[in-house]
Amino acid sequence: MSKQYNFDAIVNRRGTSCLKYDFGMKRKGRDDLLPLWVADMDFALPKEILDDLHKRIDHGIFGYTDPDGSYFDALNKWFSERHGYQIDPETVTVGCGVVYGLATGVNAFTKEGDAILIQQPVYYPFREVIEDNGRVFINNQLHYENGRYTIDFDDFEKKIVDNNVKVFILCNPHNPVGRVWTKEELERLGDICMAHGVVIMDDEIHCDFVYGENHFTSFMNLDPKYRKNLVLYTSPSKTFNVAGFQPANVIIPDADLRAKYRHANAAAGYSQGNIMGMEAVKACYTKGAAWVDELVEYISGNIAYVREFVKENFPKATFVEPEGTYLVWIDFSGYGFTDEELEHIMTEEAKLWLDSGKIFGPETAQFERFNLACPRATVEQAFEQLKQAMDAHQR
Ligand SMILES: Cc1ncc(COP(=O)(O)O)c(C=O)c1O
Repeated sequence: MSKQYNFDAIVNRRGTSCLKYDFGMKRKGRDDLLPLWVADMDFALPKEILDDLHKRIDHGIFGYTDPDGSYFDALNKWFSERHGYQIDPETVTVGCGVVYGLATGVNAFTKEGDAILIQQPVYYPFREVIEDNGRVFINNQLHYENGRYTIDFDDFEKKIVDNNVKVFILCNPHNPVGRVWTKEELERLGDICMAHGVVIMDDEIHCDFVYGENHFTSFMNLDPKYRKNLVLYTSPSKTFNVAGFQPANVIIPDADLRAKYRHANAAAGYSQGNIMGMEAVKACYTKGAAWVDELVEYISGNIAYVREFVKENFPKATFVEPEGTYLVWIDFSGYGFTDEELEHIMTEEAKLWLDSGKIFGPETAQFERFNLACPRATVEQAFEQLKQAMDAHQR
């Protein structure tokens, strides 16, 4: 495939109020760390998408805006062509980011003190939106064996029954462990949730990053019976790195659940969406396919580089093979460092800003999450820095 886009280009993001690069002093007390932490990419969008955004800016008037036919056409183009399902515009509620939508769902479908289940290690705001809203967090710990994660379905059902769980928050593909759940796994989860009246808040924000033989299955690809309990969260914010525009589409096929969600949304004072978020949805989903194809191939090259680097240089670490997402999850427990030593090596010695495994759940303090959505040169620099630091400790 001849290449149209240059993902090797280094764009200086410093001085743009960029969370990933500009807040080292504030958040880590130092400014010399190479950041591979927050799930935010270092690639500029292609001209064809920027042209559409410029056109909207050049109009000069930015009043209240609602999604119209062109918005839903764009959404349907992307999800029907790439993921094989149609979205009924009636079922869509826009939001200001997926996490806001998750918090809205928590308020819509549960009351204070109700139990909500998640599967750690998992994206930490899942736990935060549960506990910050006075709900009880229940964990169905993912099973880790031979460098791969699976679901303990018996524990999943037992925790639901024992705790009268009302909502399950699913992450597919799963951040940080990189699993892309199979059709069979999703059906088992769906069957258990249906049997016990559990609402599935299904976060599919990473759905466009899938590698090799793996195939992404959405809950929308399964038997329509599962839609009764489904609240699906999608957004172009990971695929196109437009999180700063806060787009999100919350798809709720069931009318009763949708009414509850919209009531909670209104109660939070939210009505029209962000104008540039909506423009981004339209531009990205209609013009972005070729760019995303090359992007995924490029990141797959970054993953291959890190897989080999870890094998050659960190013999006691386990590289958890990512089936999806642009995040890699590496287990350093084989070295026998204390949690503090590991943190010291990553930050003070390797000078890397990573997301430490402990923030995804207490059992994974010996893991580190690396964001590989950056030019190859940045990945190489990061792992060379890590090697230098680790070499002083390899025993
Ligand atoms: C699983 C998952 N959901 C949601 C988000 C954030 O979504 P938003 O910025 O739209 O709130 C992230 C960002 O990393 C994520 O990994």
